[in-house]
Amino acid sequence: MERMTGVTEKEAVGKAMAYLLRGRDNFGRPVSMDVSSGGEPTDLEIVATDGSVRWLRVQHGPGFDGRGQLSFDVLVVTDVTRQREVDKLKDDFISTVSHELRTPLTPIKGYASLLLRRNDEIPAERRREALQSILERADHMHRLVEDLLLASRVANTGERRLPEVGRQAVDVGHIAEKALRSFVIAHPLREFRLDAADGAVALGDPIRIEQIVANLVSNAIKFSDEGAPVDVEIAREGVSVQIKVHDTGRGIPADKHDEIFEKFKRLEDPLRMETGGAGLGLFIVRQLARAMGGDVSVESVLGKGSTFTVTLTVSSSSVPAVAPPDRRASDLAG
Ligand SMILES: Nc1ncnc2c1ncn2[C@@H]1O[C@H](COP(=O)(O)OP(=O)(O)OP(=O)(O)O)[C@@H](O)[C@H]1O
Ligand SMILES: [Mg+2]
Repeated sequence: MERMTGVTEKEAVGKAMAYLLRGRDNFGRPVSMDVSSGGEPTDLEIVATDGSVRWLRVQHGPGFDGRGQLSFDVLVVTDVTRQREVDKLKDDFISTVSHELRTPLTPIKGYASLLLRRNDEIPAERRREALQSILERADHMHRLVEDLLLASRVANTGERRLPEVGRQAVDVGHIAEKALRSFVIAHPLREFRLDAADGAVALGDPIRIEQIVANLVSNAIKFSDEGAPVDVEIAREGVSVQIKVHDTGRGIPADKHDEIFEKFKRLEDPLRMETGGAGLGLFIVRQLARAMGGDVSVESVLGKGSTFTVTLTVSSSSVPAVAPPDRRASDLAG
């Protein structure tokens, strides 16, 4: 009890629980323990002495003597703070995911039924557009399901359970170009600029690196104006390869630069839902970067734009040797 609440035994003896813990129940009412009713456990929100808010589940079994007087009361108190956090996360998860899956479904169904009903009347060009649209939305749903599967396999904060990734020499400039290609088709009004240094070969997993670039570019598009350019820069910095994705969009408040990498974290007003998303992209970017021995960081000015930088390790086979060639040959021999 002392560990959960911070209240010492000396302070607690002889005092009412409500007084000590300043507790509230599910409905925000001050804690009131009805001695007569054993049985059903009650969840209480309390403020520990260090100021932290915790949830305790209290179950008690009062014992009465022959005259019906309370002679003792056994209290079983469990700290359920973590469990309540997980429950809330699950609720949020279900609502965002159903929203995200439903959004692309509406146009998919609309186009499919249009093609089914009026296929012959629609000009070939429009038919192609409708099919293209169906495909893009199905791709989007596919990516979302992949992200969810990945996110469900890795823990929220710790590096303990990072996703499994391959480790091979990857030409990051080449991968970035590949990742940008589908965005160029889907956003013909946007300017995408790629500046890739030669020899930016990292140790990592090509599919995962592509996923990282795609997530960052999709954010740069989503959180900036239609006509604003998106810049992707691939550079070599000593023993690391950097991927920088820069936009001139709305920016991120300085006090949110850490939070945005958490699972399901979005800064959007959920009631307005101006942009879609499950809040998984950056969480996945960070987990993947870390799994490849790198990391991600952000620099951003509110109203001006953001730059996300992913740092990966240079593949050792691409590090130019400092020693002259004959020396290297002898090294190999010896
Ligand atoms: N380039 C950016 N400019 C401004 N805000 C950003 C940018 N990138 C991310 N954010 C903020 O960080 C939040 C988390 O981003 P993240 O990519 O994890 O989720 P999402 O894009 O909302 O959803 P998802 O990636 O799952 O489709 C976003 O909802 C947004 O509020
Ligand atoms: Mg995103």
